[in-house]
Amino acid sequence: MIVVTGGAGFIGSNFVLDWLAAGGEPVVNLDKLTYAGNLENLRSLDDDARHVFVQGDIGDQPLVESLLARYQPRAVLNFAAESHVDRSIHAPGTFIETNVLGTFRLLEAVRGYWAALAGPAREQFRFLHVSTDEVYGSLAPQDPAFSEQHRYEPNSPYSASKAASDHLVRAYHHTYGLPVVTTNCSNNYGPYHFPEKLIPLIIVNALAGKPLPVYGDGQQIRDWLYVGDHCSAIRRVLAAGRLGETYNVGGWNEQPNIDIVHTVCRLLDELRPRGDGSRYETLITYVKDRPGHDRRYAIDARKIERELGWKPAETFASGIRKTVQWYLAHGDWVQRVQSGAYREWITTQYAQAA
Ligand code: NAD
Ligand code: DAU
Repeated sequence: MIVVTGGAGFIGSNFVLDWLAAGGEPVVNLDKLTYAGNLENLRSLDDDARHVFVQGDIGDQPLVESLLARYQPRAVLNFAAESHVDRSIHAPGTFIETNVLGTFRLLEAVRGYWAALAGPAREQFRFLHVSTDEVYGSLAPQDPAFSEQHRYEPNSPYSASKAASDHLVRAYHHTYGLPVVTTNCSNNYGPYHFPEKLIPLIIVNALAGKPLPVYGDGQQIRDWLYVGDHCSAIRRVLAAGRLGETYNVGGWNEQPNIDIVHTVCRLLDELRPRGDGSRYETLITYVKDRPGHDRRYAIDARKIERELGWKPAETFASGIRKTVQWYLAHGDWVQRVQSGAYREWITTQYAQAA
């Protein structure tokens, strides 16, 4: 058995689906089901006894302790987090609650469980913490990509809260010997991506004939990785990562936001041309920039390749095509997401950004 937290979110649900499809052990999936948690992502597992869903908070220490005692997992993988930078700017409190205090309470529960294990169960146990490249701050155009040695320099409440969680995980290894590994990954994209984030937002707005909001000058650079590749990296680190180490995970695919938006528009022109013959790029609208917007992220993923033999399988061209095709085939998923709290969020964010 493994425990996955946040397994109803974007990356967590992709991980659970991939893990079970690959014949992995049963999964206990602990998720609070915030606005970002969507059990529809896991609908194909409804009749699969290998997936046990528990609605709950990683910060509920007694709950986590009881789950660990009951299921005796050989690993806990922590995906649960508040993940959207813009939301952290509007309302940082929940980011501190979940990403800092929640991770702390989760670590406390896991420490107690692990300390009571004996023999091979104790030796083989792992706590894998899923983190982000944003903890390293922003790069200048000519700077080398983030290595694992890059100093922590988080710039948003989101990245500061993730940095704090990384430090706690590190400290639990250093102080108590808890067997931890941490991954710091770049921007993911793919199926089940909540349409508040750039790529799904652009696809969904374009199909609805709405403006495609580009912050500032659109020249901010991100390093995009297909979500399935992130999941395979996590599996690899869980299997063979060295204890107490961090592994940077990235796609070797730096691109300015405006280029990403144009690529999505071109794919939609090809796959779902507009009725009036106009091109989707005519919907591009520059809006007010994100406060404190990091200019560039880039991941140096040589350590995970050298030590664990991991490399992304997907190119950006293949991954983004698959992603656009997925959204075109899953209009019902998008529609149900949009009929929930998501719609209120969009109104708040873009009323202020316009
Ligand atoms: P997401 O927002 O889509 O999903 C987060 C999930 O966590 C949701 O299902 C939510 O219900 C759950 N959750 C939130 N608070 C919780 C709590 N207190 N207790 C239990 N569950 C809770 O996020 P995502 O994009 O899937 O990101 C997953 C992890 O990967 C996060 O830790 C994030 O920091 C990290 N990460 C994300 C990216 C990316 O590009 N999306 C890149 C690198 C790292
Ligand atoms: O780098 C990893 C991080 O990537 C993860 O840790 C975060 O959880 C994840 O949300 C993502 O953060 P970003 O802030 O980079 O992702 P987002 O999709 O919000 O924005 C990507 C870029 O696009 C960023 O430069 C802001 C810009 N943007 C975003 C939105 C939502 C726009 O120009 N317009 C938009 O409407």
